[in-house]
Amino acid sequence: MTGNIIIKNASQLVTCSGFKAKQGTAMSDLHIIDDGAVVIDNGVITAVGRTGEILEKFDEAGFNTIDATGKAVLPGFVDSHTHFVFGGYRAEEFTWRLSGEDYMEIMNRGGGIASTVNATREASREELIESGSNRLDSMLSFGVTTVEGKSGYGLDEETEIKQLEVMEELGRLHPVNIARTFLGAHAVPKNFQGREDMFIDYVTDNVMPQIAHRKLAEFCDIFCEKGVFSVELSKRLLTKAKELGLKLKIHADEIFPLGGTELAAELGAVSADHLLHASDKGIAELAKSHTVATLLPGTAFSLKESYARGRYIIDQGCAVALATDFNPGSCFSESVPLIFVLATLYMGITIEEAVTALTINGAAAVDRADRIGSIDVGKTGDVIILEFPSYKFIPYHIGVSCVEKVIKDGNLVFDKGKQISR
Ligand code: NIG
Ligand code: FE
Repeated sequence: MTGNIIIKNASQLVTCSGFKAKQGTAMSDLHIIDDGAVVIDNGVITAVGRTGEILEKFDEAGFNTIDATGKAVLPGFVDSHTHFVFGGYRAEEFTWRLSGEDYMEIMNRGGGIASTVNATREASREELIESGSNRLDSMLSFGVTTVEGKSGYGLDEETEIKQLEVMEELGRLHPVNIARTFLGAHAVPKNFQGREDMFIDYVTDNVMPQIAHRKLAEFCDIFCEKGVFSVELSKRLLTKAKELGLKLKIHADEIFPLGGTELAAELGAVSADHLLHASDKGIAELAKSHTVATLLPGTAFSLKESYARGRYIIDQGCAVALATDFNPGSCFSESVPLIFVLATLYMGITIEEAVTALTINGAAAVDRADRIGSIDVGKTGDVIILEFPSYKFIPYHIGVSCVEKVIKDGNLVFDKGKQISR
């Protein structure tokens, strides 16, 4: 269902105007309208401007009206990298990491991703839908109106499909839009240990064709990492995915500088994600490409790794998106304000660039910059209203959400402190 709404008197209407990814210096321009108003008609933005001019042209009758005096209004956030559908939790792993064990050690002795794979294989669809829906509620409260979600906790045909079908169902049940990614090559399952190449063949020949044919996913991703999948195997899988019409994403250079960033640029991936150890050459190649550099500071924080070189990557001319990487292991957090504060305090990213990275560039990272990610005429009516007059409060209010209201497709779907029936 779509709605009609006029939001008026916004102290700042932060439009983030644009229909494609913003690279380098363009990331700083938020196209702010003071005393702004936005009209959403039938779920679509039909007018944007100063309140006086808009109200002259539009009769408020037939519209719900929200008075945003003293509040900043922004596009809904796009969290373009998460793994939010999974069974079980890994709280014990967090304590192991506190006592000094590292993420890859835990994974190599059968914990980590493998333990979530077991729990996800055992979980029923209903359980995954219920936990997934609760997680989407939480994301919505942080102002997220579109989220990307990956499979990758099945590593077999049945469970990979189950995860993607659960996301498809959640997309029908929940207001948050979901961009689905097939991550069948997220780890090497036990029965293929030491035979990564055969596992890649299994995924590409047996699982991927069905997923592409049934349109269960729009994107295909792989964990291209030392000790997981090499650049060569990643290329083999992603090339096949492209042939089948899937768009590409890569977990690239997260733990070790392997060359996943270069591969993303070479294959024309929609995004290259993590990039903690991306080389200068890889970053230069990304800057020349249309691939969005998706940085995930929550993961570096949680794993106590050094952050991706956000400032350098923007200065080289890349389009940067920021996302949570919400997952049960390396970053169990869907907190958008946490991402803002880490990016601005530790990656040298300005507040303006961070806003771009979570709106129009997040949209570009899920290939939707023509439809969402900015307050422009013709785009979907996904808008958030802050409790404060400026977007600058987002990182300043450390780790706490400033989002007061969320409007999705022209409907009020979240109002802080109030229960909304859907
Ligand atoms: O993006 N690195 C691989 N995948 C996830 C973590 C998944 C997990 O630990 O469950 C990541 O960090
Ligand atoms: Fe991830």
